[in-house]
Amino acid sequence: MKDDYTVDSTRLVAPDLAPADAEENNLRPKTLAEYIGQEKAKANLQIYLKAAQLRGEPMDHILLYGPPGLGKTTLAGIVAQEMGVQIRITSGPAIEKAGDLAALLTNLQEGDILFIDEIHRLSRQVEEVLYPALEDYALDIMIGKGPSAQSIRINLPRFTLVGATTRAGQLTGPLRDRFGVLLKLETYSPEELARIITRSAGILGVPTTPEGALEMARCSRGTPRVANRLLKRVRDFATVKGDGTIDEKAAKGALKQMEIDELGLDELDRGLLRAVIELYGGGPVGLDTLAAVLGEESVTLEDVCEPYLMQMGFLTRTPRGRCVTRLAYEHLHRAVPRHLMAEEEEGAQSEQQRMF
Ligand code: ADE
Repeated sequence: MKDDYTVDSTRLVAPDLAPADAEENNLRPKTLAEYIGQEKAKANLQIYLKAAQLRGEPMDHILLYGPPGLGKTTLAGIVAQEMGVQIRITSGPAIEKAGDLAALLTNLQEGDILFIDEIHRLSRQVEEVLYPALEDYALDIMIGKGPSAQSIRINLPRFTLVGATTRAGQLTGPLRDRFGVLLKLETYSPEELARIITRSAGILGVPTTPEGALEMARCSRGTPRVANRLLKRVRDFATVKGDGTIDEKAAKGALKQMEIDELGLDELDRGLLRAVIELYGGGPVGLDTLAAVLGEESVTLEDVCEPYLMQMGFLTRTPRGRCVTRLAYEHLHRAVPRHLMAEEEEGAQSEQQRMF
């Protein structure tokens, strides 16, 4: 029974960075002009960069937030490139002790960018060291212990912190307040993703038709990282089974073979929906129960599957657990249970009553 719902978690459509994405660096745009999409964030960033350049000052500290895989590291690299400075890349969990951060900060040069991914995962002790560094470009170090302990202040070069997080709400207030620039990244439209795929295909030397690119884009869950990963795998199918060109037919065939459906759901997503429907009558069911049934970790389901399933309107989170919607039944070609039909009819009726 369990096997019906258990799926290997090495997923093509997961937005998180995987070791196999190492080639991502070659595909990253290096300048704002090359960067596709995120028009609002890009337009504002362009102004802030120009203003800092005109004043001859480093950029204010920047917080990038939004779902994984949307190009936060890429944007940080672009800021460095446009300002003509070096970038140091690290992450919240990698900075274990205050001393680790001190070492990073004292090795920066004037104007450099320090990029901290998953900045919401910094420890309190490390955060305390960061505050004076951000505010006064200074490091306060305690020397000695007990009554004879002394604090000395070391001046740091003026640098720009670029912090990235998928969970802006988990940042402490004092840390959030120290960022002068907040940029929210949104998921990409299929048309933007098709342009990204076409650009990447050009870099990789894969002949791709506009229809082929759009087919892959539609299954990419609004995420360039997923789009580039699908492109590479579809390329493999086109190379082995076709003439190497990715057209609509080649893309459709490869995606079908990889069990990624026309909305970009994979077996894990569908397994989750099936489990809620078949084992729990459509829900509600608790996250931990679902995770056990699927042989997955709760956080994987919560961070990787659920955001997209909820965005698509297939799943809801209620105080009593997860429920699937009528749309989920329809997507899986299952008969919609009466209570879901009735609920929606009632909803439509009360909507009409409100309107008249
Ligand atoms: N590759 C990944 N993200 C990209 C973007 N936003 N623009 C162009 N190429 C990309």
